[in-house]
Amino acid sequence: MQEQTLLIIKPDAIERHLAGKIIQKIEESGFEIGAIKKVVLTKKQAEAFYGVHRDKEFFSDLVEFMTSGPCIPMVVRGENAVHGIRELVGATDPEKAYENTIRALWGTTIRKNCVHASDCEKSAEKEICFFFDLCSIVI
Ligand code: CMP
Repeated sequence: MQEQTLLIIKPDAIERHLAGKIIQKIEESGFEIGAIKKVVLTKKQAEAFYGVHRDKEFFSDLVEFMTSGPCIPMVVRGENAVHGIRELVGATDPEKAYENTIRALWGTTIRKNCVHASDCEKSAEKEICFFFDLCSIVI
């Protein structure tokens, strides 16, 4: 089934000039970029985006990191994109991620894990709307 999901290239990956490599990996895996932009999140925006983690002990660390530099959110589409992109991204902790996944290749720590990807269809819909309006997405 054709789906779309949200992927964010995080500040650590941008600082290390890995954005191009990550996009190439996504495209070579058969997915297409439907919309893309570069943003610097405010504290309020990062807190809202990661609201489900509000009670976790790493929440303030996560917000600090996600506001430490620019991010590149993008809509990625393709066959079973939600699950497929999660597989391509790999486990949250790069040390536990399977070989050749984005986080295994370029992630350094559980915090500096290069990318975020929506975990299910419902989150994908919500997270896409957080960054993009319908007219900015190429159908
Ligand atoms: P992400 O997929 O963006 O979703 C939530 C993020 O919280 C996750 O990737 C990690 O970067 C971060 N995270 C999860 N667990 C921890 C942790 N124990 N310490 C620091 N950051 C974490």
